[in-house]
Amino acid sequence: MLRQLPPLLDPNLLVGIATGDDAAVYRLGKDLALVQTVDFFTPIVDNPYDYGAIAAANALSDVYAMGGRPILALNIVGFPIELPVEILGRVLLGGAEKAQEAGVIIVGGHTIDDKEPKYGMAVTGIVRPGYQVANVGAKGGDLLVLTKPLGSGVITTAAKNEAVTPEVLEEAVRVMSTLNRKASEVMVSVGVHACTDVTGFGLVGHLLGMTTGSKVGARLQLAQIPFMRGAWQAVEAGFVPGGTGRNLEAADGRVRWDAEISTEAQVLLCDAQTSGGLLMAVSPRKAKRLVKELKEAGVPVVAVIGEVTPDSQGTIEVVL
Ligand code: CO
Ligand code: CO
Repeated sequence: MLRQLPPLLDPNLLVGIATGDDAAVYRLGKDLALVQTVDFFTPIVDNPYDYGAIAAANALSDVYAMGGRPILALNIVGFPIELPVEILGRVLLGGAEKAQEAGVIIVGGHTIDDKEPKYGMAVTGIVRPGYQVANVGAKGGDLLVLTKPLGSGVITTAAKNEAVTPEVLEEAVRVMSTLNRKASEVMVSVGVHACTDVTGFGLVGHLLGMTTGSKVGARLQLAQIPFMRGAWQAVEAGFVPGGTGRNLEAADGRVRWDAEISTEAQVLLCDAQTSGGLLMAVSPRKAKRLVKELKEAGVPVVAVIGEVTPDSQGTIEVVL
């Protein structure tokens, strides 16, 4: 929708809306650029503290995906006036402790009365001009590296229907509230061609944004893609969120699913994620070092899930 608004022509705007990135990068001087982003959503889990932590990790992630360092945040809150205010306190505490972990200070915010709770943050970060990493820039032959397992959409949908074990939900919460900080720091120190975080459009949707914008294609290998425990069971039991269904439709005609790729697998690759991992396109020359350093930095999941192909149409092929 933003693309229908007047064009942005400021020469200091290094990354705007044209590349489909979730954060803007604006040069303030020779050595300093701002990274600006905002994100909020309705409760993804019942526990208010976890919800706050996940929403904060998710909002910060768009700065990390640009290779930036978040420094300041403002809370954005919608909360029903008739609910106990202690619940909101737990949400904000979850967000505040996550921000603290990230070295980010929350310097204010705004709350409105709202029938459906909403929480998130506007985040300001910094980056050295030229060192920002955008959604586009992937090159044929690059390897695709993913830093979190998939499945948070189907698992949280199953959890809302009380159809997952506490262990499965716990793991999903842990994954969603993990900061993409270390992954981002390693990414910047090694150097990659493109990066996005995997969120509402799912792995395939965000990868389509990358391939289309970079005028390349991609081949994904299902066997190399990491999934959260319980993800397949949730899909098989039919717990597919609305956003995931729309992502699957949007992939139609732009993704070549190999004959062996089941419908369940297609759903999972399109599953709308919350606070997902970073998806990076890295030159094969640097891939080994990237993977090694990500693992050494303690990034819990590091998977080479496929490669960038020379296909100007942005098509994704998924093989077993
Ligand atoms: Co976002
Ligand atoms: Co994003």
